[in-house]
Amino acid sequence: MSAPMQPALSKPAPIKPASDPAVIEEAVAILKAGGLVAMPTETVYGLAADAGNADAVARLYAAKGRPRFNPLIAHVAGPNMAWRLAGWPDLADQLAESFWPGPLTLVLPKRPDAPIADIANAGLDSIALRAPRHAAAQALIRAFDGPLVAPSANPSGAVSPTTAAHVAEGLGDRIDLILDGGACPVGLESTVIALLGGTPTLLRPGGLARRQIEAITGRLADAGDGEALLAPGMMKSHYAPNAAMRLGAETAQPGEVLLGFGTISGDLNLSETGDLAEAATGLFAALRTLDARGATRIAVAPIPDEGLGEAINDRLQRAAAPKDDLI
Ligand code: TXA
Ligand code: MG
Repeated sequence: MSAPMQPALSKPAPIKPASDPAVIEEAVAILKAGGLVAMPTETVYGLAADAGNADAVARLYAAKGRPRFNPLIAHVAGPNMAWRLAGWPDLADQLAESFWPGPLTLVLPKRPDAPIADIANAGLDSIALRAPRHAAAQALIRAFDGPLVAPSANPSGAVSPTTAAHVAEGLGDRIDLILDGGACPVGLESTVIALLGGTPTLLRPGGLARRQIEAITGRLADAGDGEALLAPGMMKSHYAPNAAMRLGAETAQPGEVLLGFGTISGDLNLSETGDLAEAATGLFAALRTLDARGATRIAVAPIPDEGLGEAINDRLQRAAAPKDDLI
């Protein structure tokens, strides 16, 4: 294993085009040396490190300020790479067949011989796996030829980045390279499902709607309070902008800016046609834009709780939760 790089860099990380094969090669060299590379995925930008290098993963937790009990997702090219890391039930095969590469993360029993540093999955006996669909992420994982852990590329507790510029704003001085692959088309993090025996459980709603998954798994259990430890990262306050938030608002009150949806037009509208996929794509950028305008109170129009609306409402509720719930 190579020596770890410096824990904190002062120079801002360069932003380079992910479509350039020479840039992918450079990124692989940085990752092999234990460095940190932000990569575009179809959901949000991820901060990638070599999943097998404990020093690199420790550096990743430090760069994000992420509590070490919150395990990371290992990103693979596809099922062939996944089998080496985790027990692979038939249901995993069916889900991967339908939705990989794409915005679905599977939590599976970790194989004892998996080449994954213990710190990467917080010492649990399970591991979260996802094959991202974005061409740049696929190219990077294939060229690296092994799993890359990658949480969203934002300081812990902040809004997830959906452009390279967002990554630079939050983490630019703490990482080595930012691959620019444009704006993320899905815009919300992946849906996380646990397949650990028993009923498949929805740990985090996300960029793949529940009903699409349930068409294969049957009804998913919800990670209720009893199972909260299953999803250690699902703290109440997360994805938080600086402004205070009020949800389900039909109109703005004095001092508020209104984030609209459909016919509630607002100061900024997530989707004038009421399209939930469009709203998901632009949600995090909209929260950033309103923050940057200096809004101190953001009111948000009601979003239907169906399809991708479940994940949008989940993120809005976390953004609206009191900040002292943040660990
Ligand atoms: O779309 C995404 O999932 C993005 C992109 C970069 O792939 N990644 C992402 O990672 O959102 P992160 O670290 O921000 O969220 C991963 C979630 C956390 O809630 C974490 O607690 C949960 O997955 N998780 C990871 N491993 C787990 C495990 N073994 N058991 C239960 N939950 C796990
Ligand atoms: Mg995150």
